[in-house]
Amino acid sequence: MENFEQFIGSFSFDNRLAHADIIGSIAHTQMLVKTKIISAAEGKKITAGLNAILRDLNKGWSLPQEEDIHFAVEKELIRRIGAVGGKMHTARSRNDQVATDLRLYVRQEINEIIEMITCFQSVLVKKAEESIDVIMPGYTHLQPAQPVIGSHHLLAYAWMAERDKQRFIDCLKRTNVMPLGSAALAGTSFKIDRKYTAELLGFDAVSDNSLDAVSDRDFAGEYIFDLSMTAMHLSKLSEEIIIWSSVEFNFIKIDDKFTSGSSIMPQKRNPDCAEIIRGKTGRVFGDLIAMLTIMKALPIAYNRDLQEDKPPVFDATDTVKLCLGVITDLMKTFSFKKENTLKSTEKGFLQATEIADYLARKNIPFRTAHGIVKDIVHYCIKNEKTLESLSVAEYKTFSEVINKDIYSFIAVKNIVDAKTSSGGTSKKSVLKQISDLKKLIKTKR
Ligand code: ARG
Repeated sequence: MENFEQFIGSFSFDNRLAHADIIGSIAHTQMLVKTKIISAAEGKKITAGLNAILRDLNKGWSLPQEEDIHFAVEKELIRRIGAVGGKMHTARSRNDQVATDLRLYVRQEINEIIEMITCFQSVLVKKAEESIDVIMPGYTHLQPAQPVIGSHHLLAYAWMAERDKQRFIDCLKRTNVMPLGSAALAGTSFKIDRKYTAELLGFDAVSDNSLDAVSDRDFAGEYIFDLSMTAMHLSKLSEEIIIWSSVEFNFIKIDDKFTSGSSIMPQKRNPDCAEIIRGKTGRVFGDLIAMLTIMKALPIAYNRDLQEDKPPVFDATDTVKLCLGVITDLMKTFSFKKENTLKSTEKGFLQATEIADYLARKNIPFRTAHGIVKDIVHYCIKNEKTLESLSVAEYKTFSEVINKDIYSFIAVKNIVDAKTSSGGTSKKSVLKQISDLKKLIKTKR
């Protein structure tokens, strides 16, 4: 093979860790000075050199290609400040270095993703506030079940997002532990001060076992799992947007820019953005499986397989951030077509459960009531009638206890308003959700 070096190397993808790598090296250098492993003058030179590289990178300059980002930074430093640059690598190995870099990177991304999720949640809550008077069919099995408020449906996604956020916050605890100082695998005989380096880098703790520290990529697997869960939630919302914007449902409006036409069928507006988000979810799941498979059955400690951790981490990060951005913008333009959603509540016998409850309140055992309502619904289907259109006389043929008060019992608005249990779909419960979510969105972590 001609390109063997390229095969072994990782620069093509890990140069993305340049920032984390340099920040880590600056902290490590400062620690080497503090512990007198290198002199203050040497430390100053190294730090200045690293900062200069960082500045150039920020201006758009690129490091010359090396086997990986760690070698690239070190070689460039030595090129700029001379052999003293090589002292930076005292008391560390690329094994603890790369593990540290990846943790710094993931930590930064988690913080950005939490911000993005919060932004997405705020849009959902705003849309929920706007949709408080929207009554729509709620579904189970995608079959009309019971009427709900449009806000209630949107807030379901805001709560999913809240769990996603909490999951990332939790993942941060295990990510923000510093492996640096574990060296290749066994630790180092230099009298280093790991706590000091950790403090400089904002790590909450240092790892406890050097063998574990250089091989541990649990945080990366967990992180991609959290991204997968987020993507999965976005795919559910996307699916609903796709269904709701179909001609058959016609429940919602979103800005045309999130849709596209067909090259052959002039009448079409396809919900492409939502479809692409739904599709990209598969890609994120693929990254998770890749990550887990890379870790599977690896003996302790570092193995070069671990170099393959980066593409899935980066890809899952980019994909989910992209999708979060698009869905947030899309949802800003979202509105329910409330006449259509209301009209739809007339189909599907959404009041059936209510009638069963009505009978049960009149002392008919619920199971018997369930059977009676089933017969009523069959009668309606056969005679092409709705539950509200039946006369009291017709109702009475099924049960003597049914009176005129049935009509107010089965008016959809009343059905919704009666669901006052906490977390239910009554306006009061939904407003409580909105205020709870607003508090959570404002809460500083
Ligand atoms: N590029 C390597 C990686 O990403 C860095 C660590 C190399 N360590 C080694 N012992 N060869 O994992």
